[in-house]
Amino acid sequence: MLPTLSNLERLARQAGEILRLGYEQEHQVDYKGTINLVTEVDHQSEELLLGEIKRLFPGHQIVSEEIGLVPGRAGDEWFVDPLDGTVNYAHGIPAFSVSIAYAHDGLVRLGVVYDPMRDELFAAEHGQGAHLGRRRLHVSSVTDLLHSLLVTGFPYDTWSTPHNNLEYFSRFSKLTQGVRRIGSAALDLCYVGAGRFEGYWELGISPWDVAAGGLVAAEAGATVTNVAGEPDYLIPPCSVLAAPPSLHAKMKAVLDESSAK
Ligand code: IPD
Ligand code: CA
Ligand code: CA
Repeated sequence: MLPTLSNLERLARQAGEILRLGYEQEHQVDYKGTINLVTEVDHQSEELLLGEIKRLFPGHQIVSEEIGLVPGRAGDEWFVDPLDGTVNYAHGIPAFSVSIAYAHDGLVRLGVVYDPMRDELFAAEHGQGAHLGRRRLHVSSVTDLLHSLLVTGFPYDTWSTPHNNLEYFSRFSKLTQGVRRIGSAALDLCYVGAGRFEGYWELGISPWDVAAGGLVAAEAGATVTNVAGEPDYLIPPCSVLAAPPSLHAKMKAVLDESSAK
């Protein structure tokens, strides 16, 4: 049996309910690295999602944040982030999501990102467009950087890696209306699809963060690549650049110029 968008939507809403119910409670925080944390709710959400996917689609491979499998890129594959925006969640900031994508032979076919606090469900099917609820999504029509609002994120090892994104952040901050940092890569990409942001870029990201949101952005009209402009942005080490086509080219030129320095 092949999964459908409604399978993914149902799973995302179920996991979203776990996040919503756990939101105002005190959390048990464990550290995976110096600043990379995980709560008991990440695990509860993941347990539900993995259990249901295995039950409904036995034999499919699952690449999920907390079990951390490496993508195989063949056959039936799921990319699951049971809670994207864990740092926000642990601090009581209502900006986080559940992200679920289904791919076949390396092509992402279905993607759903659910924000349980705003009850916003972003969904996309390859070749069929992207939707927020019933509304069809379209990227922004802004074509110049000066009138663009961008969004980005930073890796958990920002403090120790030279690829910390600070140079790009500084460059774009001077060339645009502003650069936001929401803290959920999945939502960042969906907001590009919804035209709320003009563009998004991020380095040092993982496939489960961006597989579903990348499809939403692309189906809404964005060009989605890695920061080198290559189409397969799910091959680790992943990076993403997503924006409407003309802005994508302009953002890519800024990234190239900054890295040449
Ligand atoms: C993180 C968020 C954040 C991004 C980080 C991700 P997590 O995911 O998507 O926006 O900047 O790189 O790791 O840890 O909250 O699932
Ligand atoms: Ca994530
Ligand atoms: Ca996560």
